[in-house]
Amino acid sequence: MSATPIVAITGLGTAVPARVMTNAEFEKYLDTSDQWIQERTGIRERRIAGPDETLSGLCRDASLRAMARAGISAEELDVIVLGTITPDRRLPSTACELQALLGARRASAFDVVAACPGWIYALAVAEGLIASKQARTVLAIGAEKLSTVTDWNDRGTAVLFGDGAGACIVQPARGDGRGILSIVLGADGRLADLLYIPGGGSTDPVSHEVVDERRQYIKMAGREVFKAAVHTMVKACDQALAKAGVTAEAVDLLVPHQANLRIIEATAKHAKVPMSKVMVNVDRYGNTSAASIQIAIDQAITEDRIRPGSLLLLVTFGAGFTWGAAVVRW
Ligand code: ACO
Repeated sequence: MSATPIVAITGLGTAVPARVMTNAEFEKYLDTSDQWIQERTGIRERRIAGPDETLSGLCRDASLRAMARAGISAEELDVIVLGTITPDRRLPSTACELQALLGARRASAFDVVAACPGWIYALAVAEGLIASKQARTVLAIGAEKLSTVTDWNDRGTAVLFGDGAGACIVQPARGDGRGILSIVLGADGRLADLLYIPGGGSTDPVSHEVVDERRQYIKMAGREVFKAAVHTMVKACDQALAKAGVTAEAVDLLVPHQANLRIIEATAKHAKVPMSKVMVNVDRYGNTSAASIQIAIDQAITEDRIRPGSLLLLVTFGAGFTWGAAVVRW
């Protein structure tokens, strides 16, 4: 028997910068090609924020859409929880900046740092706060301006990332079977140095040396991350399905983290979900980290691939390593 949801996602909204950056732009200054990028990653283009487009601004736009779809006002928000690794500033949290932008005066606000799974972690926090009756209406967001931590001279990472935000409203389930059936989270900090930003934290504070040596940017051992991502996401899918009490065959749409088409294909194959039931839009947005699943869900709704009652399997993996999966009756 499938699990009974405690909470449901009652509205979802996303926002991406207007500027489209194509693979051809990298060909002009890096030793790479559109063909290599498409064959090895599936990415054709990504959205890149301008200097005046802040993370909190993207979050505001996504949140207003989510709130409109849920039919709620900012006054009704009890908590704002934002998954991001690229806050507007080191202090305060971008969730607080967003609280002010929205005028959500009653809401407490904080960020969670979990890289690509940031939104799934935020969902788990929302579920816990509602289950313990500390909140009734939570704004759970994942958003990144990865362009600000990308080394634009490193062809191994520069071509992968993009900017964007995805927000949702989480409220108590209405007893109609719709909502979050399961969430599983995980982490393995022993592998932190395979995907990390070495400089700018408290062990290696910002200095001329950090900047000269480009240590303020993402470093990634791509091949190792690739293997770990597939292996871990398959396991997380199995755990989330078992916890929800549903089978892979019952899933209407797998919405995986959009990092690399080959990772998505390998994950779907091992999780026994045919590609016809997998949402892919990494070609249009690249890897937007904590925003990627919501941007994919939003597009799937627009394309009528997700309808009320659809059974979704969400799965993600990122720096930490961290991972998460969820089964949602939409
Ligand atoms: N253009 C041309 N050649 C390139 C490029 C490029 N943009 N990037 C790397 N190469 C070269 C490498 O230098 C290497 O050359 P060499 O054989 O002469 O040394 C060759 O291509 C193969 O390199 P690999 O790293 O083995 O290539 P791979 O097929 O693994 O693809 C990639 C690299 C796309 C990075 C892949 O490993 C990947 O997607 N990894 C996982 C990324 C990911 O999922 N990250 C998740 C989370 S991100 C987050 O948390 C923020």
